[in-house]
Amino acid sequence: MVAFAAAPSTSQGTPNLNKKIMAKEIIFSGIKPSGVPTLGNYVGAISKWAELQQKYRCFFSVVDLHAITVSQDPKELRYRTYLTTAIMLAAGIDPKKSVIFVQSHVPAHSELAWLINTQSTMGELSRMTQFKDAAAKTSKTSIGAGLFTYPTLMAADILLYDAHVVPVGDDQKQHVELARDLAQKFNHRFGKTFVVPKPLIRDSGARIMDLQNPDKKMSKSDDSDRGYILITDSPDIIRKKIMSAVTDSGRNIVFNKKHKGLYNLLTIYQVLSGQGEKQIEKHFLNKGYGQFKQELAELIIKTLSPMQTQINAYMKNTPRLDKILAQGARQANQIADLKLKEAYKKVGLVTKR
Ligand code: TYM
Repeated sequence: MVAFAAAPSTSQGTPNLNKKIMAKEIIFSGIKPSGVPTLGNYVGAISKWAELQQKYRCFFSVVDLHAITVSQDPKELRYRTYLTTAIMLAAGIDPKKSVIFVQSHVPAHSELAWLINTQSTMGELSRMTQFKDAAAKTSKTSIGAGLFTYPTLMAADILLYDAHVVPVGDDQKQHVELARDLAQKFNHRFGKTFVVPKPLIRDSGARIMDLQNPDKKMSKSDDSDRGYILITDSPDIIRKKIMSAVTDSGRNIVFNKKHKGLYNLLTIYQVLSGQGEKQIEKHFLNKGYGQFKQELAELIIKTLSPMQTQINAYMKNTPRLDKILAQGARQANQIADLKLKEAYKKVGLVTKR
């Protein structure tokens, strides 16, 4: 149990946290259970989260309300909510150190999102690249309203916990920047309420690309399964996908952004091995693409296999996952409710006694 779980509130409406924990900056991040998490999710986000728990107070959420902004099969969604939780735990997120919870278990997320909606403009939300990309794929009238207001729910996620830092992949930077702008706007209009968050994006690996089309991001909701590696993929499938990954016809294994396919594979190698560019280039000097791909596939397998063993164990014991998530929800609700109440008061709503 983390020490701040049962913290009583102060007159300012902030939890009366123990001083040592107060001194730590706060992290919030989330992942949608809209597909099985990919190697892109792992490299760009989840692998970093476990490390951050040593230095920050962390809140990590399986953001199911974001997942339903696009159509989901109910049975699959339930399964993937557990699976995503199991993956986070297997990646080293420790419920004794961090709060891990499902977004819909904390109603304040939806409630603050509504408040933030009322303070946001169509212009601000229309500028979001992710929305523009989704809108480009469908007609204006059939695009979901939830997809349009997606970033205000994401802002609510972050602002409820006074998060200072939001570790995300490159694709989520614009959303975090909007959360920042919306926090500043709210504070300016109603008085200091929210911490203004900043994105934390890793130098290398913040955008892992599709293995078949290195011009586009590796994505768990992609139609073709050859472009991504799922965290649950078997060794054979990983080998097949890496060996058939698109590269150019060059010979040298060097970090050159112009050779997008190779650069992407080298980036994965770099993050998973923890080695520097020069060291990797030296190791593969005079070796061909085939040998490099084989070694990369084995490195991915070596990283994912122990996690898969743990994921399977968690998935065989969903009551254990329920227990962890219930504890996380209790902790998150306590903090989120106080912040929501504070924001309600600021805008002039009469809050429940
Ligand atoms: P989601 O579920 O798409 O992805 C979860 C995290 O993985 C990162 N990511 C990647 N990083 C590198 N390469 C890739 N190919 C790649 N694909 C995904 C994402 O950037 C993200 O950090 N909107 C968010 C979820 C969210 C959230 C939040 C995040 C909801 N509320 C509040 C932070 C704070 C999303 O769709 O992530």
